[in-house]
Amino acid sequence: MFIQTKEMLQAAQAGHYAVAAFNVYSLETLQAAIHAAEQENQPVIIALGERYFGTVDVEGFAALTKSLAEKASVPVSLHLDHAYEKESIVRAIACGFTSVMYDGSKHELEQNIAYTKEIVELAHQAGVSVEAEIGSTARGAFSDEEEGTGALTDPASAKEFVDQTGVDFLAASIGTLHGMYTGEPDIKLGLLDDIRQAVGVPLVLHGGSGTPDDTMQQAVAKGICKVNVNTEVSLAATNYLKQAADNPMHLSDMMAGMQQAITPVMARFVRLLKNPDA
Ligand code: 13P
Repeated sequence: MFIQTKEMLQAAQAGHYAVAAFNVYSLETLQAAIHAAEQENQPVIIALGERYFGTVDVEGFAALTKSLAEKASVPVSLHLDHAYEKESIVRAIACGFTSVMYDGSKHELEQNIAYTKEIVELAHQAGVSVEAEIGSTARGAFSDEEEGTGALTDPASAKEFVDQTGVDFLAASIGTLHGMYTGEPDIKLGLLDDIRQAVGVPLVLHGGSGTPDDTMQQAVAKGICKVNVNTEVSLAATNYLKQAADNPMHLSDMMAGMQQAITPVMARFVRLLKNPDA
């Protein structure tokens, strides 16, 4: 079933679990994400980043996702990940995305508040929820995201930001990286407690890939309701394709094999984010 991201994350918040948001860019990655969620009987968020608007037909992708979601045995929603441009947000809303992320993390707080507020107004008019970020997730290895400063989220600024903009979900920068860690992860779970106390909206963790399992589970127990995952799935796919390329193989088999290779990687994340006491 195709449902609103907000409904999904409010249920996650009440049930003390998190929903995996997988970055997808093709039919195979989309199908794998839905199958992984079905295997684990958990909801899933399909996330398309603005950076893929050049290669993925956004309207076609939204129609396809909605069609597959209607057939799925678990709730599925469609999210625009890391959008920097208002036009991308307007385009995603027009074709039925259920939530959008406006990433104004490059701007100073006041500017970020002003820009985000404008996006919240236009998205809410269309019944679409908004995620935003303060602080800035840094980039590790193999990531396809923009470089961030790694600035951590200040809880007082988080409160001011949420109060003034009316965002529905907040990405908390607590030391996770987009991509794989090159050193020992240093994730500030105490800071997450402080952010949780400062704001009531569902919190989002970017940089799921490579984050230690126990850290991720503690973060969920402390209020993370959505975990974004991209790089680890991409690595599993490219490793499979490298090895498959050495054998004479039809492209259709290669694509099917890639989907099979990434589904368990996605399912592992979905499993990890469940409420262990449910
Ligand atoms: P990873 O690539 O580290 O999984 O992070 C993805 C992400 O946060 C996309 O917004």
